Amino acid sequence: MILMEPFGTTKKGEAVERYILENKRGTRVAVLSLGATVQSILVADKNGKPRDVVLGYDSVEQYEADRDTYLGALVGRVANRIARGHFTLDGREYSLAVNNGPNHLHGGLEGFDRKVCRAAVSNDALFFYFVSPDGEEGYPGTLRCCVQYRLDEDNALHIRYRAETDAPTPVNLTNHSYFNLGGEAMEHTLQIFADAITENDETSIPTGAMLPVAGTAFDFAEAKAIGRDIGAQEQQLKFGNGYDHNFILRGEGMREAAVLRSAESGIAMAVETDCPGMQVYTANFFGDRVGKGGAPYSDRCAVALETQSFPDALHHENFPSVVLRPGEVYESETVYRFFTEDV
Ligand code: BGC
Repeated sequence: MILMEPFGTTKKGEAVERYILENKRGTRVAVLSLGATVQSILVADKNGKPRDVVLGYDSVEQYEADRDTYLGALVGRVANRIARGHFTLDGREYSLAVNNGPNHLHGGLEGFDRKVCRAAVSNDALFFYFVSPDGEEGYPGTLRCCVQYRLDEDNALHIRYRAETDAPTPVNLTNHSYFNLGGEAMEHTLQIFADAITENDETSIPTGAMLPVAGTAFDFAEAKAIGRDIGAQEQQLKFGNGYDHNFILRGEGMREAAVLRSAESGIAMAVETDCPGMQVYTANFFGDRVGKGGAPYSDRCAVALETQSFPDALHHENFPSVVLRPGEVYESETVYRFFTEDV
């Protein structure tokens, strides 16, 4: 079942709606037409009590005022970083906004997280449509996008991305939800099906090297508490002030990428995706903020698991390409599946 209700109005005067996806188990996912943002996910904990497991805000004003956390938002045209906001494609040079140190981040100053999308509902699926015009934020080509949200009876939220272009352009779409399944985020256990990360420089741009995780703080092959090794004396952790890295997921096609668990609530979440990578970001630069219902949000209060193509792929021939060409279809899917266990 999908219900719609008004949520507010942007500064530009656009009406924003909230769509509630609910399944027969009583799980409820709220998604906003502003930035196709996942605003809340209510799942029952081990005692049957509903818990909201993602960060978010109560009003359009709060979403518009926050320029740097991307809470729950659709991120694009290119999620993550592009070194120095510059790239060459088919011999032509393009300049983008530099909005994160010396680099371009998450699509620029007015990324997809700021767009108010047109919505359509069909049975249990919610579709958001929008167009990113040629030249928007410096990117070439008109990009037509569709993002689909579907909550199934197995408590899985499916997010499917589709895009087409009329000129070659880079595309890398993700959802920027921050998860806290109950209690302290750093006490959650996390398992990641990855053997390596892309190594970062001090501005979080990949050097091109792939670092094996075995024996390092980045080794989540066996489930471990996120906070266990976050203070380790490793240069990569210092660069990110914690985890803020792209994990190279094992295998290809739709497969399990990670499992996050809270012993406090008994809620667990499995992430499945067909993306090659996943950025693990432990909200290292949050500062103090006030979220839904006045909840205090601070550094490391949640973790984002952003399925994606590798960061700065435009500058690394050894990374999977992020270039979409006319006639091709960008398609990608990520599933967040919730379940409970008494541990
Ligand atoms: C990035 C972080 C950044 C955050 C913005 C993440 O995807 O990897 O470096 O600070 O988004 O909220």
